[in-house]
Amino acid sequence: MTADIDQSIELAVSKLKAGLLVAFPTETVYGLGADASSAAALERLYAVKGRPTSHPVIVHIASVEQLTDWAKDIPPQAYQLAERFWPGPMTLILPKADHVLSQVTGGQDSVGIRIPSHPVALKLLKAFAGGLAAPSANRFGRLSPTSAQAVEAEFADSPDSSDEVALVLDGGPCDVGIESTIISLLNSQAKILRPGMIDAASVAEVLGAEAFSSRSSASASAGETRVPGALPSHYAPQTKLTVASSEQLIELVLELNAMERSAAVFAFDSTVAKLRSNLSGLAFDSLVVAPEQVDQYARSLYEQLRRFDKLKLDRIFVEAVPNASAWDGVRDRLERASAEAST
Ligand code: TXA
Ligand code: MG
Repeated sequence: MTADIDQSIELAVSKLKAGLLVAFPTETVYGLGADASSAAALERLYAVKGRPTSHPVIVHIASVEQLTDWAKDIPPQAYQLAERFWPGPMTLILPKADHVLSQVTGGQDSVGIRIPSHPVALKLLKAFAGGLAAPSANRFGRLSPTSAQAVEAEFADSPDSSDEVALVLDGGPCDVGIESTIISLLNSQAKILRPGMIDAASVAEVLGAEAFSSRSSASASAGETRVPGALPSHYAPQTKLTVASSEQLIELVLELNAMERSAAVFAFDSTVAKLRSNLSGLAFDSLVVAPEQVDQYARSLYEQLRRFDKLKLDRIFVEAVPNASAWDGVRDRLERASAEAST
């Protein structure tokens, strides 16, 4: 890493210590960081995100030794999972340590904790030497940013954006591309509350099949733990998005095309090929081949949706992804992105 980034990190730490907000890269998505031990910084964070204060935020730390600063009664499963997946795209929900502020936990008895693997995030966390509360660096309900440019764009519309986000650390495009897998270890039961690129099978491999059945991971919304990310219309682009099988998608696109309305399509190779031959020369604004590999798909998804959104087309169509558990995280984000807002 260059001297430049060292200087930026020094500046970032001084802003954070002053109760200001700093956006930083993680391997999943960019986070909007605030000192997790400062009520004033957390209040600023909620205000800038436009997020209801009842929604908990994840505390980011640099090492497993810091776990006990934020959680108590930590079960052995936490250390097993940490050993295997940290630093990395996993968040653990644990009983909170007594002093943890209610602005972090949304008033619950639990706290979400993660050690990210992005080198800039780790460097920042080590230099800060505390916990950073960091939700994704987007306004409430919008797509998570996966580049520094996307963060800048997200907050550019405010009259004095430097008041809101003091600094954006640029760590390049995010490698994972969708938010971390959230695993609750409360009540001696492991449960996936939000699927991500660490899938149920990998978690079961670490914990053993009996301790963790992926059936228990089906849905967080029915449980007693609130996960605002589980609101159906979270992570949504502003253009109406529809997920459809190859055949349905082709039908829908041709229908729309006949009505001379515009659409963007993100579909696998063979579907795009069929569309191209069917559309035979008709202008179509944006026809993009989706990666077949889930890692590459996740990495490009939000960037692609943001790009489509900017085109201000009538619709976005995405081809349904495979049913395999490796695609659970991606499928979940597509479902949320296609859900109608509930109000
Ligand atoms: O990958 C990620 O997790 C990114 C990066 C920046 O680390 N962060 C992120 O934060 O996605 P956010 O705030 O956008 O989503 C965090 C999710 C929310 O749905 C929240 O409800 C859940 O984590 N969460 C946090 N603490 C919780 C708790 N104590 N119990 C249940 N859910 C919790
Ligand atoms: Mg978010």
